[in-house]
Amino acid sequence: MSSYVCVDSGSEYCPCVLAEVGECINCTRINGSDVCDCAWGGICAMEHARYHPDRMDRVDSPASTLSWINMEDRYLYLDVRVDYPIWAGSHLPGSFLFVRPESHDSKFNIPLCVFRTLTGSRLAFFVKVEGPKTKTLKDRLILDPNLIVHGPHHNGILGITHIRKTRFQRILLVVYGVGQASVPLLASYLTARGNSVDAAIDTADLGRDLIGEDLVQRGGHVWYLALRTEKGKAQLERLLKEGNYSMVYSAGPDGQHYRLELMLKQLALDTVLCVSNNALMSCGEGVCGACFTMTRDGKGSFRACKANPDPETVFMKTSLLCP
Ligand SMILES: Cc1cc2nc3c(=O)[nH]c(=O)nc-3n(C[C@H](O)[C@H](O)[C@H](O)COP(=O)(O)OP(=O)(O)OC[C@H]3O[C@@H](n4cnc5c(N)ncnc54)[C@H](O)[C@@H]3O)c2cc1C
Ligand code: FES
Repeated sequence: MSSYVCVDSGSEYCPCVLAEVGECINCTRINGSDVCDCAWGGICAMEHARYHPDRMDRVDSPASTLSWINMEDRYLYLDVRVDYPIWAGSHLPGSFLFVRPESHDSKFNIPLCVFRTLTGSRLAFFVKVEGPKTKTLKDRLILDPNLIVHGPHHNGILGITHIRKTRFQRILLVVYGVGQASVPLLASYLTARGNSVDAAIDTADLGRDLIGEDLVQRGGHVWYLALRTEKGKAQLERLLKEGNYSMVYSAGPDGQHYRLELMLKQLALDTVLCVSNNALMSCGEGVCGACFTMTRDGKGSFRACKANPDPETVFMKTSLLCP
C-alpha cells in the first residue's frame, strides 16, 4: 500500500504532473499496478485523471507589498495583495507560498507560511531574515514592492490527516520563534471545529509575540516559556502531564519536534504529535527532489512538499544534532 497521503489529493490540483509521469504519491493504479491499493479514502485520483484530464497548475503570479514592517532588520511582517484565486486557496492550515522579489528569478523563491488571510485579497507573511533569499527580499522591498508568488501549496504541516479529523479536543501548540507563522490558520481551523487551543510560546530572539492575543480571544490559555532552558522544559512537561491534551502541534525546528516526541513517550502519553514541515523545498510540486526525506526506519523516502506522512515515521535529520 502507498503509505502516504498526498496533501493535494481530491483538490483542484489533483491529478498533478506526477500522475502524468506515473509517479503519483497515492495511486498505485496510475503508477502502473493492476491493484488499487492507496491510503487515500477520498476522490479517486485515477477516475479524476480519466474524467477531468485538464488539471489545474500553480503558476507564478504577480503580487504587490502594500505595507511592511522591518523588526530590527531580523524579521519582516508583510501585507501583500495577491490574485484572488491564490488568496481563496490560502485559508487551510499548512498553506504556504513561494515568494520572491519581482526583479529576481526562481532561485530566490522563499517558501513562506501564510501567516494570516486579510480582507481585500491580501495575505500577511512573517519572515525571519536569515540568508541570501530573505536578505534580498528585505533589501529589494525598499526599492520595489512588487513580488512574484507561486502557490498556494498546502503541505506546511505534517500530520494533517489528524488535524482534519480532530473535533472537540484539547490541543496544545508549542511554538518557537518564527514558528509562529504557521499558527493563526491552524488555530482558526481547530477552534472552528469545537477544539480548545492553548499555546506555550518561546518568542526566541524576536522577543515579540504576534499570536498570543488572537489565541486568548479564541478562548485559549497562553504561557510564555523559555523552551530551551531546563526550567522551560520542566514547565512544558507539567503542562503536558496536567493538560489532558489529545494533540500537540510543534511549530519550530526539527530538534524541538524530536524532543517533544521523546517527552510524550517518557510521560507515556497517548498524545498525537503534528509538526511544522521544515524540509528544504524548491519546486513544491514533487518534481525537483530538494525535499526528499528518509523515513526513520531508513526503508522509505518521500517528497515532503506533497506527501504527508505521520510525523512519527519521519527521520528527522537535525534531531541527531540536538538530542
Ligand atoms: C513549508 C515552509 C514554510 C516556511 N514558512 C516560513 C515563514 O513563514 N517564515 C519564515 O521566516 N521562514 C519560513 N520558512 C523557512 C524559509 O523558507 C527559510 O528560512 C528561507 O528559505 C531561508 O532562505 P535564506 O536564503 O534567507 O537563508 P539560508 O541561509 O539559505 O537558510 C536559512 C535556513 O533556512 C533553511 N532554508 C533555506 N532555503 C530553504 C528552502 N528553500 N526551503 C526550506 N528551508 C530553507 C536552511 O536550511 C536554513 O536552516 C518556511 C519553510 C518551509 C519549508
Ligand atoms: S520541493 Fe521539489 S520535489 Fe519537493
